[in-house]
Parts: sequence; structure tokens; C-alpha cells
Amino acid sequence: MVSDLVLRYFNLDDALQCSSLMQDHFLYHAINLPIKMRTQIAKGRTAEYVQKIAKDRLIVVVVADDKIVGMGALKANEIRHMYIQSEYQREGIGSMIIDFIEKEAFNKGFFSIIVNSVDYSEEFYQKKGFKSLIKTQIIRHGITLETILLEKILE
Ligand SMILES: CC(C)(COP(=O)(O)OP(=O)(O)OC[C@H]1O[C@@H](n2cnc3c(N)ncnc32)[C@H](O)[C@@H]1OP(=O)(O)O)[C@@H](O)C(=O)NCCC(=O)NCCS
Repeated sequence: MVSDLVLRYFNLDDALQCSSLMQDHFLYHAINLPIKMRTQIAKGRTAEYVQKIAKDRLIVVVVADDKIVGMGALKANEIRHMYIQSEYQREGIGSMIIDFIEKEAFNKGFFSIIVNSVDYSEEFYQKKGFKSLIKTQIIRHGITLETILLEKILE
């Protein structure tokens, strides 16, 4: 069990570590996506990219052992960029981020929250109370991803 987890808002100095978290996921862990796609996505997830997206969405990070081990974001009422470092998964960090983001969305006046999940994370969101709606295809930076749209009503 990981102790001393701190969830806080992203600041621009976190961009490099967040970029590494994303790149590590796509290069080494998203193994059911085609390698060409993974490499292409990872290449685009630079620190500059993270600094850019931070302008139009809320990003939170979780720090443990003096490093960022998890991140998640909220753009309007959509969850984006959920990444927990592989050695820290299944320790409740993803839940911590989702619970926080849900409160933020509710406080902003949203009554539901959505996520376009890749298939290997669908069960995580279902465990967090999301309902699977439809299969979707999303295009991110010219790359088409097969996803599932899930929604959770906030109360
Ligand atoms: C999906 C992810 C965000 C979950 O974060 P996490 O910190 O491991 O999740 P938690 O420890 O809070 O798990 C909460 C519950 O979901 C379950 N769970 C977590 N990941 C799961 C998965 N991939 N499949 C099935 N169940 C999962 C946990 O076992 C736990 O269940 P419990 O409440 O019965 O004990 C994390 O594994 C991750 O970053 N994955 C790689 C990137 C990714 O897929 N991001 C989502 C893109 S849409």
C-alpha cells in the first residue's frame, strides 16, 4: 500500500513528468494498440503539449515518493488524460482522482460526467459508477481510437 499520496492541481513545472507518464503508457503499456499508433501518440505527448492543454482544462496530479505517479483532467464535463504509473496502479490513485474530478465538475454546475475510454479501462470506470453507453471512435491529433463512451450522473 502506498502511503503519503498527495493530490494537487497541476502547475507548469509538472509538464515534463506528466509528459513522461503519458509517453511511458503509450510506449510500454498500451500493448493492445498498434505499435505504430502508440509510437505516434507518444511522440506527440511532449512537455509543451501538456503545457498547451493545461490552458483549456483542469489537470490534477498525484504525488508519491516525491514524484508524479498519476494524473487526470477535466475538460468541460469530460474526463481526459487519466494515467497512473504502472507500479502504482490498483492502489486507489485512479479512484482518488475520479472522486476529486467529479466534485469539481459538480461544483462547476454539471450534472453528469463523461469519458471516452479505451476498452482496457472500461471496467475501472464501471466500478466507479459509470454506465457504458455506446462504442465510439474519437480522433485525437489525427489518430482514430476505438473507444466506449461512458457516463455517470452526479449527485
Ligand atoms: C485505469 C486506471 C486509471 C485505473 O487507476 P487505478 O489507480 O489503477 O485504479 P484504482 O486502484 O482506483 O481502482 C479502482 C477499482 O477499479 C479496478 N480497476 C482498476 N483498473 C482496472 C482495469 N484496468 N480493469 C478492471 N478493473 C480495474 C480496481 O481493481 C478497483 O476495484 P475495487 O474497487 O473492486 O477494488 C489506471 O490503471 C491507468 O492509468 N491505466 C493506464 C492508462 C489508462 O488506461 N487510462 C485510461 C484512459 S481512458
